[in-house]
Parts: sequence; structure tokens; C-alpha cells
Amino acid sequence: MAILVTGGTGYIGSHTVVQLLQNGYDVAIIDNFSNSKPEVLERITQITGKTPRFYEGDILDGKKLDMIFDNENIDAVIHFAGLKSVAESVQKPELYISNNVGGTMVLLKYMAKHNVKNLVFSSSATVYGVPKHVPLCEDDEVGGCTNPYGQTKLDIEFLLKDYAKIHKDANIAILRYFNPIGAHPCGLIGEDPNGIPNNLMPYITQVAVGKRDHLNVFGSDYKTHDGTGVRDYIHVVDLARGHLCALKKLEEKPGLVIYNLGTGKGTSVLDLVKAFEQVNNIKIPYVICDRRPGDVDENYANCDKAYKEMGFKTELDIFDACRDSWNWQKKNPNGYDK
Ligand code: NAD
Ligand code: UFG
Repeated sequence: MAILVTGGTGYIGSHTVVQLLQNGYDVAIIDNFSNSKPEVLERITQITGKTPRFYEGDILDGKKLDMIFDNENIDAVIHFAGLKSVAESVQKPELYISNNVGGTMVLLKYMAKHNVKNLVFSSSATVYGVPKHVPLCEDDEVGGCTNPYGQTKLDIEFLLKDYAKIHKDANIAILRYFNPIGAHPCGLIGEDPNGIPNNLMPYITQVAVGKRDHLNVFGSDYKTHDGTGVRDYIHVVDLARGHLCALKKLEEKPGLVIYNLGTGKGTSVLDLVKAFEQVNNIKIPYVICDRRPGDVDENYANCDKAYKEMGFKTELDIFDACRDSWNWQKKNPNGYDK
């Protein structure tokens, strides 16, 4: 079975490509390297002994997509390509709309032209906005996104629903990721953010490796067990496996389906810091500071639907993720740069 992976050299894409190759899928990637490095491809080959076919290019480039779908006999697309910085999206909302929403429209146009019926899409728990309750279920209300990035994910979900109404034979799995962390246990691939990390785990690993002197904990007066924000941290290796479960689900021709991908367990900022310290035996100095605008008290998933309908359940926990993130960071202190 041949899969086109858009954004396949990124953080989640690269982990998914590894599992696809290890499970006998034939893989082609398109990525414009706007947030990833060519080195990733060599690492994928080192891990799997296989090399995916790679097309450097932009999903907004219809001619490129046309050429790829002509060259390849694609059965399904896993669509990771997108910009994901909440802060940047506030500065450049048009860029996020054109790249994320516009890019998906171009992709859908060429999938339809080439009769490719199956799509797995990277959505986010951010589509739930400010949760009215936790854990969050797939049929809970969406909307009220607090930033343009989140809005693009919601807009794409609506676009996909409209597309599925018109293309009755399309099969689409919308996967709403909670907070992906961790790295492949071999330490060859992992998360490589540009500049100062926005997200918690890469910030912690940069403190551990000595790049930053302390972690800023954004708020200690949330309505949670220790006052710090609670999230649902899912190991990226589990998350990647979720995409293989989704591909299997699409073989049943289910039309459009939506699944949360999380662990169902809430972890606070300080819980994660403690887990990292314990499993790696490294002290993470931290300073409590003001809340970060737009952050919510707690956010975690009800994962029953993904288990019932596609047999997906996480196997790794935050301790595994803390060990693997640190293994990646210490082996690659500058990420993919030498
Ligand atoms: P990433 O930035 O590491 O990977 C995205 C990849 O897409 C990058 O390699 C980038 O170069 C590529 N890309 C971006 N725009 C492109 C375009 N127009 N054409 C071709 N390639 C393009 O991000 P990630 O963490 O791997 O996330 C993958 C997807 O999952 C994204 O859509 C993201 O919004 C979504 N998601 C991520 C998280 C998270 O916390 N990491 C949470 C929820 C959803
Ligand atoms: N945090 C800190 N210090 C930091 C970074 C984060 O205390 O330096 C805290 C945040 O306040 C929050 C928790 O750690 O309580 C997690 O923050 P992240 O930035 O790692 O993750 P978010 O839950 O804020 O955001 C993630 C993705 C977004 C997505 C959102 C909603 O990064 O893309 O989940 O699902 F939109």
C-alpha cells in the first residue's frame, strides 16, 4: 500500500514514516523543509534500512502535487504539512490561513483529480477551545479557538466535512492530537524546534542540556491539583502508531471519522518536571512566573472512541517520554544541526 506523507520530515511525520516503513508500507514524502531538515531522511534510513521517496516541494504547488500523484500510485495521504506555532500565528494570521487551510484545499483538489480517496489529517485538541469539562469527547462542542493556528485546524475540519459530503466515496480520519512529547527510543529522530522552544518538553530538555538556565512555569494558580496547567502528554511513538490504526480503519470505508489521540490522563507542569528529574536523575531548576495568555487550566482526552473503533490505546507513559526526549536531546544537543 502506497502512502503519501505531507510534512513527513517533521517531528510527528518522521516518527510515523519510520513505523510505516517498518510495517511494509511504501512511502513517498513531500515537505518544503520550512520547519525540518534534510538530515531527517538519512536518520529514517539509518533506523529502518529503507529510504522513502522524497519530493522537496510545497503543498500549495498544484503542479508538484499533480506530478507526484502521476508518478506514484497513492492509496492514502497522511497530511501533517502545516505551520504550528501559536505565537507566530498571532503575528502572521494570513500566512497560517494560506499555508494550512489553502494548502489543504490544494491537496484535496489533486487528491480528487487523481481519485485518491483516503486521507488521515493531523488536527489538534486546540479545536475544543476552552474546555467546559474534561475529559474531552469527540462530540463535545468545538470552537472558541484562542489563536489563529487553532482556528486553521478547525477550519480544515469543516472543509473536510464539506468535502466528504460532496465526495461520498472519500474516507477521512481526523485525528485530534493532545500534547505529543518524547522521541524514538534510539535517539536518532526527535523534536527540533527553531529558537526558543514554546512547548514544555523541549524547553525542559534544553534546560537539562545546559542551553537554558531554568524553566519558566507559566502560572501556579490554575484550578488543578498543584496549581500548574494540566495536559494530556502522548508519546510520539504511540501517536505515530495511531496513524497506522487510522489507515486500517479507512480500509473499512467508514466515510469521515474523528478520533482523539491522547492517553486520557492529565499531567501538570510540575508532575512532568518531577518525572523528568526522577527518570533521568537530572535537576531541572524552575521559576514560577505569570500565566501565559490563552492557556487553560486543564485539557485531557477521553480516548474510548479510538480504542473501541480502531483498537488504539497508548502503551508508553510520561516516564518513557521523559527518558526518550532526554536521550534524543543529549545525543543531538543542537538538534539535526551538527
Ligand atoms: P513540524 O513542524 O515538525 O512538521 C510539519 C512539517 O510540515 C515540517 O517538516 C514542515 O517543513 C512541513 N510543511 C509545513 N508547511 C508545508 C507546506 N506548505 N508544504 C510542504 N511542507 C510543509 O510539526 P509536527 O509537530 O510534526 O506537527 C505535524 C502536524 O500535526 C501539524 O499539522 C501540526 O499542526 C499538527 N499538530 C501538532 C501538534 C504538536 O504539538 N506537535 C499538536 C496537534 C497537532
Ligand atoms: N509551559 C510552561 N513553561 C513553558 C512552556 C509551557 O509552564 O516554557 C506550560 C504551559 O503553560 C501549559 C503546559 O506547560 O500549561 C503545556 O504547554 P505547551 O506549550 O507544551 O502545550 P499547550 O498545551 O499550550 O499547546 C499544545 C500545542 C498547540 C496546541 C495546544 C492545544 O503546542 O499546538 O496544545 O492542543 F494548539
